[in-house]
Amino acid sequence: MARKKIALIGGGQIGGVLAQLCALRELGDVVMFDIVEGMPQGKMLDLAEANRVDGFDADLKGTSDYKDIAGSDVVIVTAGLPRKPGMSRDDLLSTNAKIMKQVSEGIKQYAPNAFVIVISNPLDAMVTLCQRITGFPKERVMGMAGVLDSARFSCFIAWELGVSVKDVNAMVLGGHGDTMVPIKRYANVNGIPVYELLKKKYNGDMRKVEEVMTAMVERTKGAGGEVVKLLGNGSAFYSPASSAIAMVEAILGDQKRLLPVCALLEGEYGVNGFYVGVPVVLGSKGIESIVQMDLDAEEQKLFDISCNAVKELVEAMDKLL
Ligand code: APR
Repeated sequence: MARKKIALIGGGQIGGVLAQLCALRELGDVVMFDIVEGMPQGKMLDLAEANRVDGFDADLKGTSDYKDIAGSDVVIVTAGLPRKPGMSRDDLLSTNAKIMKQVSEGIKQYAPNAFVIVISNPLDAMVTLCQRITGFPKERVMGMAGVLDSARFSCFIAWELGVSVKDVNAMVLGGHGDTMVPIKRYANVNGIPVYELLKKKYNGDMRKVEEVMTAMVERTKGAGGEVVKLLGNGSAFYSPASSAIAMVEAILGDQKRLLPVCALLEGEYGVNGFYVGVPVVLGSKGIESIVQMDLDAEEQKLFDISCNAVKELVEAMDKLL
């Protein structure tokens, strides 16, 4: 069987980790595209020269020519500026929309059959633009945010409870911004609700339980900003790359994973024509289905607020373009 081909549009911090993960996990041949002359070529040459040590055979190529992404099975887009301390993801709108426009045209022309996973921020608007410009079916154009936000929520739960993160399941829905919605009610450790475990830990003190849960939710919402502030220059890159790779593996391996993904909704969750984070089944056809889960009144309210924020962002983008 021929190797799969993965194109990375954007060879910066996230792009570099993506390339290394693709190589180490032998997901396929990798092409890294960037507009900075020499940089993607240099990075991929450096990575390729680790092949003997790490034991991978994939072809790795850096390029500044869209022609080289031809025949890609999956394209992951990280092109665009990252945040600086004090900026929200939405502050990147005008710069990154212009970049996303160019990138989407390149993908449309040279990789018309690819699955596209967008990571660039502000995510919900960028993936909307990418789908509109490529015109690819909605099953094939998606955004990576929910896997990362959920991973962050799970990480904080594991630290709080002193359990392996492997046993934690927690999901974050909605837009990838300050209004994202961590679903507290369903967060669990191997099926045991996190609420129940917190109640045990704090001897039934429900005020303390709520306080701890709220702190984890707030840290999740601000997790990207926390990293931006510490780095001082740039934004998170290890965890976004790992999260996108989980999506690539689900698609290429037809794993039918149920993951929160930024998907185009057409009536689901009462939303029409917008990309928002919801649970989907991810397999060889891309987004194979959107999973409708019942939200309680509080969750629905927060989800609606988040969807409105996404709508405003997309409207602002439409005015810019
Ligand atoms: N085409 C291709 N690549 C581009 C273009 C373009 N038109 N414009 C910029 N780039 C490249 C830059 O040259 C840079 O190498 O995109 C890369 C972005 O890399 P970083 O600045 O290191 O940013 P990174 O941390 O990888 O984040 C990328 O993902 O999470 C989001 O908010 C983040 O929007 C940001 C994106």
